[in-house]
Amino acid sequence: MIPKETIDKIFSVARIEEIIGEYVQLKRAGSNLKGLSPFQDEKSPSFIVSPSKQIWKDFSSGKGGTVISFLMELEGFTYPEALRHLAKKYGIEVEETHRELTDEEKKQQTERELLYKIHEVANNYFQDQLWDSEEGRLVGQAYFRERELKEDIIRKFQLGYSPEKKNAFTGYALEKGYAKEILEKSGLSIFPENAPQGIDRFRERVIFPIHSFSGRVLGFGARILKSNVKTAKYLNSPETEIYHKSSVLYGLNQGKQAISRKNICLLVEGYMDVISLHQSGIENVVASSGTSLTTEQIRLIKRLTENVTILFDGDKAGIKASFRSIDMLLSEGMNIRVLLFPDGDDPDSFARKHPQEYVENFIAEQARDFIDFKADILLRDAADDPIRKAEAIRDIVKSVAFVDNVLKREIYLKEVAAKFGLSEQSLFNELNVQQQIVQGNQSAEKTRQEQQHVNTKLEVVQDKTSFSAEPLWELEEKLVELMLKYGDYIISRKDADNQPYEITVVEEIAAYLQEDGYEMLSPVNRKILDEIILGLNQSELRTEHFFVTFLDEEIASKLADNIQKNELQNWASRNIYPLKLGDRISQEVEDDICIHKSHYIEFLIFRLRKELDEYRDTDEEKYFSTILQIQKLEKIFRDINAKVNRILTKSHYYYR
Ligand code: UTP
Ligand code: MN
Repeated sequence: MIPKETIDKIFSVARIEEIIGEYVQLKRAGSNLKGLSPFQDEKSPSFIVSPSKQIWKDFSSGKGGTVISFLMELEGFTYPEALRHLAKKYGIEVEETHRELTDEEKKQQTERELLYKIHEVANNYFQDQLWDSEEGRLVGQAYFRERELKEDIIRKFQLGYSPEKKNAFTGYALEKGYAKEILEKSGLSIFPENAPQGIDRFRERVIFPIHSFSGRVLGFGARILKSNVKTAKYLNSPETEIYHKSSVLYGLNQGKQAISRKNICLLVEGYMDVISLHQSGIENVVASSGTSLTTEQIRLIKRLTENVTILFDGDKAGIKASFRSIDMLLSEGMNIRVLLFPDGDDPDSFARKHPQEYVENFIAEQARDFIDFKADILLRDAADDPIRKAEAIRDIVKSVAFVDNVLKREIYLKEVAAKFGLSEQSLFNELNVQQQIVQGNQSAEKTRQEQQHVNTKLEVVQDKTSFSAEPLWELEEKLVELMLKYGDYIISRKDADNQPYEITVVEEIAAYLQEDGYEMLSPVNRKILDEIILGLNQSELRTEHFFVTFLDEEIASKLADNIQKNELQNWASRNIYPLKLGDRISQEVEDDICIHKSHYIEFLIFRLRKELDEYRDTDEEKYFSTILQIQKLEKIFRDINAKVNRILTKSHYYYR
């Protein structure tokens, strides 16, 4: 944890114009500074920095915020990383822990430092070998030439070459004074009893250094040159204290800015895919090199974008890997498209065969939504076999079950229903089963058997009901924003007996959300609400101030996004101060709760109607009680909607 005082100090010392000035050429424009957007290509500057307010706004991308949010956007830093970056720049000491390190911890720390150092040394060594040794030129460079890599791209990825000699690197490092122990720990050397001079892990291979998010070398991948030798094509560094392969993505360091700028990340399988795509000008790409995609890796991508396109070989292994990745990505809330390359091509060979524009268009046009993709593959050999077809549909619904968000799930399910001409109800039943399986419920298999007959009766229906989740999302955001920004503002209300009372914004909204048993759609909002309620239970009001120093990555990025958003829009577009919201907050809160409630009830009714179908033939009692429930909700819905209509026609309702 970085102490609050240190954070305050960083904020008070850092100058936004200095920091942003390192990335964007800024020119004076009145009291502000102007420049070209670093987030989007543009010809006339629409990126504005206000030194007096210490905020920025990019009108081409709509982003804006503080110096911290700028660094988070552009460098892909987390909140604490951005703080540390600034602290370092301004010579502010950040005490990471409040106690002295133990000897053991000190030892570990110096060991990590040494591991970083030895990797840096090795990285330079392998590059020197490639460029400056005869063997490197004749063997290493020749290989890269054969793979059609140009010098600038080889240098950009710091590719290298490890010589044939058994202890070439080990001997070099020992001579430079590095200890055997650290060489062994790094995995770069081994020291068997019969070879005290040591043996290199990587010999006669081309070297691909693996970088951390911020560009430190953590390990290496090394490819064999001949294809006839019976040994692994790629050798990778072992797990060490600094290299955990499950939390590293190859190419992330080189691609992070493009990923964030384009707001989409291409996911490929191998080192060469990443590098070839870069060479053809496509830089928003990463590979999970050598492991199947992990949650940690997905979270690294999620810092930059929620959109992923999977680009894999069209072979069996590629398809299997893509299926697994789809489920992993869905459970992390990512939006996915998938593209398999035809005719034995992988991204590497495809990128070398075609010009950049063609590749870009191909990816944009051929990548499919995951439902279409899975359907195609699974139905390809199912032909008219109804059992195989049912299996395929079940498999797709299984993927949908990985989606955490209720409304997103419903939208996907609708899509499956429409695509196969099935009733949504039968898919909902299957979804319930699959969800229990996903959640590891033991009794799931039994339920599945009980419901089996439902699934085989997949009937074709015309879908009449529909429900759009979007307004509910928006309103949820709005309520959270109100709690964060104006949470401690006190509003006057009257109770049922017309007695006046006072309540804070945060209390009123939190009470409403709890009372209605509303489940937040976004996980971040859920987290924020939980924290707020925790605070309320201890008589503590948690608003923006609390969360700014609350070191949760997701919450911090959300805040950085929201901070001064409204103020900025008015301020910068019309050069006037924003209308004072103060007097209207009370009204705002009331209106927003009301509109939210209306949409929420609409959703509840929608869900109950679905259940109704299920009970019709199975459970008469449930059927009638559900009908009663629906009628009750519909009554509330009508009353509320009358009010909502009044609100929406009021002229002061400005923010929509
Ligand atoms: P590929 O065999 O598809 O690699 O394996 P590639 O990058 O296309 O290799 P080239 O084109 O023959 O040079 C995909 C990825 O799986 C890992 C590597 O990360 C590779 O990039 N891999 C593969 C290994 O770690 N070890 C292996 O023996 C093979
Ligand atoms: Mn390949």
